[in-house]
Amino acid sequence: MTEKEIRSNFIEYASQAELNAEDRELAAEAIAAMNNAYAPYSHFHVGAAVRMSNGQIVRGSNQENAAFPSGLCAERTAMFAAGAKFPDKDMRAIALAGGVHGRLTDRPVTPCGACRQVMAQYQAKAGKPMSVLMVGAKAIWKFERVDDILPFIFDSI
Ligand code: THU
Repeated sequence: MTEKEIRSNFIEYASQAELNAEDRELAAEAIAAMNNAYAPYSHFHVGAAVRMSNGQIVRGSNQENAAFPSGLCAERTAMFAAGAKFPDKDMRAIALAGGVHGRLTDRPVTPCGACRQVMAQYQAKAGKPMSVLMVGAKAIWKFERVDDILPFIFDSI
């Protein structure tokens, strides 16, 4: 028997001013995308922005539906739009932000398991790390690769 440990590394920034220019731009895009959320049930608006290998940024926002499971999170809306629009490009980074009435949560919103799985697969498709930036008003968390938020991804088929 061997006890093993999984480590996850991330950077915490105190404000958007501390981010590099690319991440600051992506954070602003995710925050702007919050305005396009359709969230008549939760009233929680989430925005996401994906940076592609060609420099293009694709936004997404959560889209809810009366048949609850039919709705989709902001991150998957953004990634599927990016995959559909730029099928031959890689996804290099994703940022997300959420809040109510346009006011960001203090603590960063953390993606659900299904969105992490989708991030992991687009990262695997690219064969290069995809960074994940979670933007809150009082803290911003940056994970350099999806592995840091989803270890042991299912990749057996
Ligand atoms: N939501 C997202 O879009 N992304 C997340 O990371 C967390 C949750 C959405 C789903 C639902 O529309 C609302 O936020 C409340 O859960």
